[in-house]
Amino acid sequence: MNSLFRAGKQVLQASGRAFSAAANPDRKVVVLGAAGGIGQPLSLLMKISPYVSELALYDIAGTPGVAADVGHINSKAKVKGYAGEENLGEALKGADLVIIPAGVPRKPGMTRDDLFKINAGIVKGLTKAIGEHCPGALINMISNPVNSTVPIAAETLKKLGVYNPSKLFGVTTLDVVRARTFYAEKKNLNVADVDVPVVGGHAGVTILPLFSQATPSVDLTPEEVDQLTKRTQDGGTEVVQAKAGKGSATLSMAYAGALFADACLRGLNGEANVFEYSYVESDVTELPFFSSKIKLGSEGVEEIYGLGELNDYEKAGVKAMIPELSSSIEKGIKFANEA
Ligand code: NAI
Repeated sequence: MNSLFRAGKQVLQASGRAFSAAANPDRKVVVLGAAGGIGQPLSLLMKISPYVSELALYDIAGTPGVAADVGHINSKAKVKGYAGEENLGEALKGADLVIIPAGVPRKPGMTRDDLFKINAGIVKGLTKAIGEHCPGALINMISNPVNSTVPIAAETLKKLGVYNPSKLFGVTTLDVVRARTFYAEKKNLNVADVDVPVVGGHAGVTILPLFSQATPSVDLTPEEVDQLTKRTQDGGTEVVQAKAGKGSATLSMAYAGALFADACLRGLNGEANVFEYSYVESDVTELPFFSSKIKLGSEGVEEIYGLGELNDYEKAGVKAMIPELSSSIEKGIKFANEA
């Protein structure tokens, strides 16, 4: 075994993605937008997830190639590619979990809200198909603007009479992953031991890391808190600018998406104490959707936790995000109910 392969195998084992067929229940996972920048590495990571037995890769084009490629990996999941809208229903049938990274990514100078016009229509169409073909599946929404695409999905499912708020998740895991990385780097901590709650939504000031509740707890100056908060909020823009017109975060997003999807599957499988952060229907604030810590169970969201004790900086952060989050939610609801 050469050293590169050995190192790779150690990484996979450390993340629970060893090449073994663990005795987990059969689970079908569908990736919508599987040929894209996020879709491809996410499909790879789900192919080597010990929690997946069937992996359906759907996109408007290009999925036979992606499916043939990841399908050669010697892990448990059986892979099939589906291209074109006429095959969407077949791809979705029998799904336990549908992950949606379909749509266009940001270019420099664009906000997540600029994506609204294109992605809103894509998400509406895909969610309608989910409601028709696999209404009981969990949905992990990655397509931006998540603050609006989740309400669009909820309204679309309501119209079909199949909305279950416990099964619809906006994926904010990348914000948590970034906050952990930046906090650990700043204070020379072992990132594997670090947790940083991130609440609110998934765009600019609506992303609020709660460094006062980070563990392990270390002293941060107000300037450090402000710098870490802004870096987390602008993490996506940092990548968009570095890629200089060639897309937004794809690799770190695929990693974060796979972490969250695995957590959903572990919850479905009855594993105890599976906690994540996610943008879900919530009564933690006056807004109908909000991201905070959740417990995942056999029916999706099992419990939603409050924000804990906030310091003045964090209280101001929550106050400041409410108008933007509120208008993104309203915009999504309005769009879903038009025509
Ligand atoms: P991409 O353009 O590389 O890939 C998107 C894929 O979606 C393409 O393969 C495209 O053919 C496909 N697609 C378009 N319309 C479709 C439809 N109707 N049905 C199925 N597939 C369809 O974009 P990328 O970089 O993969 O980003 C995808 C989305 O994820 C964007 O909306 C982006 O803003 C979002 N994103 C979300 C993050 C989060 O933290 N939640 C982080 C980074 C990106």
